[in-house]
Amino acid sequence: QVSPLAPYDPPLEETYKNLLKNELGGSSPMSVQEQIIVEARELPLIDLNKLRSGEKEREECKREIAKASEEWGFFQVLNHGIPRNLLVEMREEQEKLFRKPFIEKLNDKNLLDGSYWWGTSSANCLAHQFSWSEAFHLPLSHIYDSGCLTSISSTMEQYASKVSELAQQFAEILTENIGQDPSYIKQMCLPNTCYLRMNRYPSCPLPQEVTGLMPHTDSDFLTILHQDEIGGLQLFKDGKWVAVKPYDGALIINIGDLFQAWSNDVYKSVEHRVVVNKWSERFSMAYFLCPTHDTIIESFVKPSVYRRFSFREYRQQVQEDVKKFGCKIGLPKFLNII
Ligand code: SIN
Ligand code: FE2
Repeated sequence: QVSPLAPYDPPLEETYKNLLKNELGGSSPMSVQEQIIVEARELPLIDLNKLRSGEKEREECKREIAKASEEWGFFQVLNHGIPRNLLVEMREEQEKLFRKPFIEKLNDKNLLDGSYWWGTSSANCLAHQFSWSEAFHLPLSHIYDSGCLTSISSTMEQYASKVSELAQQFAEILTENIGQDPSYIKQMCLPNTCYLRMNRYPSCPLPQEVTGLMPHTDSDFLTILHQDEIGGLQLFKDGKWVAVKPYDGALIINIGDLFQAWSNDVYKSVEHRVVVNKWSERFSMAYFLCPTHDTIIESFVKPSVYRRFSFREYRQQVQEDVKKFGCKIGLPKFLNII
């Protein structure tokens, strides 16, 4: 017995019909969950209270952050300083945004063109596959622009400012760990060059036929993710998809492509995806620490694994590849051929 789709999801309803007719891509889609074995594991869990303790504990905590970024490219943190009530309010904001009728979301004049989408992803791989999700991808410059605060509330602004501070803190620790000027990333990533994305993954009658979000790596320095208790995030580790168990109150941090390139592969930008389920919708929100478009990413190690490139060039390449091949190729395109 499948649960009916919510009435505010006409496009998903349409897609569901197509799925039933087996028309996606003209061939039977692969079963997503069966592609590669999935193992459930807990991400390294780091208590940030240690950063506010004595010297010894502080250093230990920094080492844990660096180690997890090198070995996993992913970790979760507790006592991160973002109040629980702010997270709850953000969830309410998300619901308000997503519960609007589809056409209203698509044509919201308060949002920049292309800020809302459903069913596809900017991070897509395998072009014939379909992402069972909808998202608002908001440049922080837009959130900070007081002209639009009627539609994007001050809760979001508060969250953005807190999460930005936290992101800078991780960036500093990771930069210092590789012997570089800790303020480097702060100079490149300004409050208005970063993004906030709200995701909603509706429950799906045929979850094994779709992904919530295609496998991808993030094209930023690092990402801070808040997910609800439903679960569905998976990351690719040691040849397997690892299902990330939600941990109440924790935030998830993951390394993006820019940090991997700049650190000369010390930190890992790890592929991840989201799967959906039959029983429950899932919400998440991601903050992307991105630099200005002119920022040059050049490793201090010579010879470096990747050639020098600007963030503008990187984004253009990703967009071109997605158009041409239906998938993001990412860092391998920027390998240094000596
Ligand atoms: C993302 O990769 O941007 C979102 C992941 C998630 O929803 O858990
Ligand atoms: Fe991602």
